[in-house]
Amino acid sequence: MEVVICRDADEVGRVAADRMVSYLEGLDTPVLGLATGSSPLALYRELAARVEAGVIDLSHALAFALDEYVGVPLEHPESYASVIRRTVVEPLKMDPARVRVPDGLADDLAAAADEYDAAIEALGGVDVQVLGVGSNGHIGFNEPFSSFSSRTRVKTLMQQTREDNARFFDSVDEVPQHCVTQGLGTIMDSHVALLVASGEGKADAVAAMVEGCVSAQWPASILQFHPRAVIIIDEAAASKLK
Ligand code: F6R
Repeated sequence: MEVVICRDADEVGRVAADRMVSYLEGLDTPVLGLATGSSPLALYRELAARVEAGVIDLSHALAFALDEYVGVPLEHPESYASVIRRTVVEPLKMDPARVRVPDGLADDLAAAADEYDAAIEALGGVDVQVLGVGSNGHIGFNEPFSSFSSRTRVKTLMQQTREDNARFFDSVDEVPQHCVTQGLGTIMDSHVALLVASGEGKADAVAAMVEGCVSAQWPASILQFHPRAVIIIDEAAASKLK
């Protein structure tokens, strides 16, 4: 695990974008893994500037989002399909037909999740998986005590996560109870896991992930076993590291 400590969230975005550009260099058809939430926004903004400047072209890249809420209409501004379109696909000039988000509206959610996971596996896992971390240590929506070998599936969101995400909705009651998320096993199949975090609210989760025992209590700690995990964080998120 490589840990890079930056001054602030903007620098996290710049450093992560530099890494991303270098990891993707030379790949004919890169396969990206995309997180939503606040953490990767600076990274996506930086990448968009590089696309605009002609430094990188993602028009032929494939991408798979990490997760989606169950039961939220696609056109809802906070469905992850909408968020990914707004914050990634459009600014990075990606082909919407090549970017997938788990189906949180399928009649058979389990079958749709299996198919999603199989599509990622068929490509040999994603090349660069962008990750954030929840204040309770989740990655994707793999909440504490998720199985380390889990694949894409339906999960129940913990109250802490619903409260953390209430800022995107009118109230915590509107935050869905369930989601579909790539599993920890799916994430571990990625070639590079690039996690970004900023702010003091992430300091406990970052300390547990980087310096704690590998434990299902802090799902992100599984990244200690990832052959190429790069953790790019600001000073506030790093403040509880020894
Ligand atoms: C989102 C996701 C989550 C977030 C995490 C942190 O697709 O998979 O694991 O990365 O909840 O969210 P923010 O970045 O909003 O603090």
